[in-house]
Amino acid sequence: ELEQAAHGLFVARTLGEAGARALVEEFSPGIEISCLALTDGAEFETLIFAQDHKRLLDGDLGPNTGGMGTFAPMEVDSALRGRIERDVLRPAMALMRARGLFYRGVLFVGLMVGADGAPTVLEFNVRFGDPETQVILPLLDGDWGEALWAVADGQVPRLRWKAGAAACVVMAAEGYPEAPVRGRAIGGTLSSSPDSYVLHAGSRLGEGGEWVTDGGRVLNAVGTGPTAPDALRAAYAQVEASRWPGCQFRRDIGKNLVVQDGDRMGKGQKL
Ligand code: GLY
Repeated sequence: ELEQAAHGLFVARTLGEAGARALVEEFSPGIEISCLALTDGAEFETLIFAQDHKRLLDGDLGPNTGGMGTFAPMEVDSALRGRIERDVLRPAMALMRARGLFYRGVLFVGLMVGADGAPTVLEFNVRFGDPETQVILPLLDGDWGEALWAVADGQVPRLRWKAGAAACVVMAAEGYPEAPVRGRAIGGTLSSSPDSYVLHAGSRLGEGGEWVTDGGRVLNAVGTGPTAPDALRAAYAQVEASRWPGCQFRRDIGKNLVVQDGDRMGKGQKL
């Protein structure tokens, strides 16, 4: 696999100049969790945890992607949450301050929780995540405008969350992630309701006013509901309502609904 990846980057140049240098890292198996926090650079308020599904195919198989779907809230017990705050968020913020980086906004930490229960950092971003945002935004019990204004003003808001769940299933183009096919007409009905809707990402309006594929991750089918299965059903209803030839999506989004220190492999609940 390493040889194949090296050939893709350095010989076939699949990522062009962006892939001219590569860093080889330790493989981190486990359960992936996305932890986002609002911070004024010193204090922080964590948002609900979300789970991304990075691999293209069901069962976490196939190539890595930008994210094929998300589910929130990811249940994380207090011991693991404390560990993430103590071992990841606080040291990261202390280091930023020590380096003179006074950051106000969203800090995104992509984590893998391994078999020993230790959270390993995969990535930091200074932005919301995609497709994490699609499942975190609808669950705030409050006003995002007020929350983000407060943090820009140097006051970390305390957030309240709705009791329900949200799911997002990414509908990707044929050929994604290597060479997404553009220009395919998106069939079906892109209807929406407050708890089941589609967000456009890699799409555009064609000459005749119809939606066509125009990127890798084309549509986000989003569902919310009082329970996890309700949210997943609402998201998959959107997937069924709008398709195109070669459309790729995962059928197992949200299968690991619970992550705990003592039960790290989740409950394995499936639709
Ligand atoms: N879903 C990962 C990211 O937004 O970077």
